[in-house]
Amino acid sequence: MKHFLKLLDLSSAEVNELLDIAADLKYKQKNGIPHKYLEGKSVALIFQKASTRTRTSFEVGTYQLGGYGAFLNANDMQIARGETVQDTIRVLSRYFDCVMIRTFEQSYVEDLAKYGSVPIINGLTDFCHPTQVIADLLTVREYKGKTEGLKMCYIGDGNNMANSLIVGALKTGMSMTAVCPDDYRPAQEVLDFAAAYGDKFKLCSDPREGAVGADVLTTDVWTSMGQEEEAEKRKIAFAGYQINEELMKLANPDAIVLHCLPAHREEEITAETFEKHAAEIFDEAENRLHAHKAIMVAVMDAYPKA
Ligand code: CP
Ligand code: NVA
Repeated sequence: MKHFLKLLDLSSAEVNELLDIAADLKYKQKNGIPHKYLEGKSVALIFQKASTRTRTSFEVGTYQLGGYGAFLNANDMQIARGETVQDTIRVLSRYFDCVMIRTFEQSYVEDLAKYGSVPIINGLTDFCHPTQVIADLLTVREYKGKTEGLKMCYIGDGNNMANSLIVGALKTGMSMTAVCPDDYRPAQEVLDFAAAYGDKFKLCSDPREGAVGADVLTTDVWTSMGQEEEAEKRKIAFAGYQINEELMKLANPDAIVLHCLPAHREEEITAETFEKHAAEIFDEAENRLHAHKAIMVAVMDAYPKA
């Protein structure tokens, strides 16, 4: 795997291999088994949007792997004053062994990969959030012992999380129902990909229809970063697209709930349901660390061969 730009680029085998590596690195971290696979390597961590989890888990993850993670606020870089993507990445490629970036346009991340000479990791764009979904799939595997044959239901905005969850779920053998208002559907590119999975993928606008028999329910904020001006309009459009106890009655009795965080209680999820499923949600947050370590060693080809 040369880059980690979007899950659409990865084969099912590659997604599953990342989950295996993440589980192994988690085991090693928890048991004090050395795994300094990035000794002497430096990773640039560029943020053009806010972050709590992604930033800190990449910083701590590079440290645990024996490498160095340099946090770079894009507003303090020459990018903010118009330096081109081509020049920025040709310079960073001379200093760093890998670049992780959180930004707006997916094309910016794709251009970094095109013009640079080091692996690029997508730490969230408007189009997708693939590092998060590796952590989500790892959490599903931990709670359910598998992904194959399970039913996932995503409720809410057809945003970056929806786009990555649909691809990740289908590539790991789950069936997926995305429940989104008609005006807020996932990206057409993702819907085209999902169409090949026949009745394993459904798109509907009734949360109750999606929740029936679900093993995993997941949601995300109604207003993503960069959409703040639409917040009031979105509150109206998404009313009812909520994970709550009424909806949970329709899911499998042992269903788990995931949320990438940050959460807005009483909007996409009630405080009651959030707290009932806090164990899964915070395991999911922890798993960002292990997933990011796996992604870094995979793209830098630093994981020891069996
Ligand atoms: N879930 C997630 O990406 O969190 P941060 O925005 O805090 O990084
Ligand atoms: N959809 C959200 C995810 C945050 C982790 C956003 O883009 O703001």
